[in-house]
Amino acid sequence: MKLFARKPIAALVAETEGSGLRRSLGAGDLIMFGIGAVIGAGIFGAIGSAAAGQVDALGNVIRVGAGPALVLSFLLLGFVCALAGLCYAELASMIPQAGSAYAYTYATLGEIVAWIIGWDLILEYAVGNVAVAISWGDYFKSLTGGWLDLPLWMTTGYRTALLSADPAVHGLLQSAPRLFGVPMLINVPAFGIVALITALLLSGVRESARANNIMVAVKLAVLALFLVMGAQHIDTRNYHPFAPNGFTGVHQGAAIVFFAYIGFDAISTAAEETKNPQRNLPIGILGGLAICTLIYVIVGAVLTGMVPYRQLGTTADPLAYALTATGLTSISRIVALGAVFSMAAVLLVFQYGQPRIFFAMARDGLLPRWAAKIHPKTHIPHVTTALTGVFVALWALVGDAGETYDLTNIGTLFAFALVCLGVLALRYLEPDRPRPFRVPFIWPVSLVGAAACVYVMWGLPTLAWVRFGWWLVIGMTLYVAYGYRNSTLRSGKPQRA
Ligand code: ALA
Repeated sequence: MKLFARKPIAALVAETEGSGLRRSLGAGDLIMFGIGAVIGAGIFGAIGSAAAGQVDALGNVIRVGAGPALVLSFLLLGFVCALAGLCYAELASMIPQAGSAYAYTYATLGEIVAWIIGWDLILEYAVGNVAVAISWGDYFKSLTGGWLDLPLWMTTGYRTALLSADPAVHGLLQSAPRLFGVPMLINVPAFGIVALITALLLSGVRESARANNIMVAVKLAVLALFLVMGAQHIDTRNYHPFAPNGFTGVHQGAAIVFFAYIGFDAISTAAEETKNPQRNLPIGILGGLAICTLIYVIVGAVLTGMVPYRQLGTTADPLAYALTATGLTSISRIVALGAVFSMAAVLLVFQYGQPRIFFAMARDGLLPRWAAKIHPKTHIPHVTTALTGVFVALWALVGDAGETYDLTNIGTLFAFALVCLGVLALRYLEPDRPRPFRVPFIWPVSLVGAAACVYVMWGLPTLAWVRFGWWLVIGMTLYVAYGYRNSTLRSGKPQRA
């Protein structure tokens, strides 16, 4: 049972005391923070294969598309995320700790589950950023096309060429220059943006609320521009058939475009900096979600009305593509520019969050002591910041966005499901602990929330499940080899860091 040792909530809360953080964020700031972390590669990139489906280089169907019924996928996801969001709100207001789902799980389901979640969050944060970086590269290419035409082999990762059903891209495996016989297929822009963001973070820069508000304004402005201009080019014939693959298409479309919703949970990491968190956290989490759901449904409706949905499957920058296809080339450039800024902001948030989760795990002894090192001048966890940068940049150099979306989604949905269950478990384990925010109808919200997350996971390709399984096996091996022996909670050793 020691494997399920729970960290006392009082200890978790005590860690946050004296942290020097100021409670300055209100509900409006939190909503902006949420939109800042949420709107990115999902709506600018993944939406294409959610609508059109995806086939691999051999013509095998990886997923079928939702078609114009993509709006239903977005609504379904809004519902699923609202349930998970309620559960996040209760735990975040009770345990206002920056470790987010990892910390909540340590207090509710015990150490081994907390380790699994911490390990799993790498999929949400670091692997998610690989996908965002690749999508950033695609929009960068579309933006700079005509005056900075990098050769295709320098903007296409090896995995993308290998998996692509597009003969021009797949053919790169033969035509790309070779080094020691290996085709040089590298995504230089994706690598470059991660290197740049990591350098910024290492210099101690962190996203301030003000900078975030500017980024959110840019995101909302370009999406508004897309909607206003795109709506004038809707051809209602594109809405027929509305759901070409029935509910299977809606389900499988939802499983990939779930990526667009990831990030609302990041609000919970600001719990220590929020005024009146019991009121403002739920408003921030649920308000941000409601706004994003509304925007996504409208973007989905306009996009699938502008061009036949099938065309969206072959492009990596679907919003820019649809504008260009309808003759709005200069608007397309503006939207591509906005997308490049929007995704850079998402990259910054997640590239900032990942090292801090490692930091929290190292503080608990589940990772080596050096991972909890703080730089004496910049006061940031510089070792984990640099390691995260190297990991994400190298993967983005050769990776494929589609694969990484799937892996991120399965990992994040798993974390959401456990948070939904954790909130119910804590009601019974610690019924008397004050709950500044209480999930209404806890049983249905918790159980339906967890089941709904598993249901969305079920829409992912088998390969994503296999990879996720391997990821967990590697994580468990590391726990047995290191965390199990070095946990400060079970060994009773003093806390590190
Ligand atoms: N939701 C974020 C995005 O779409 C991760 O980029």
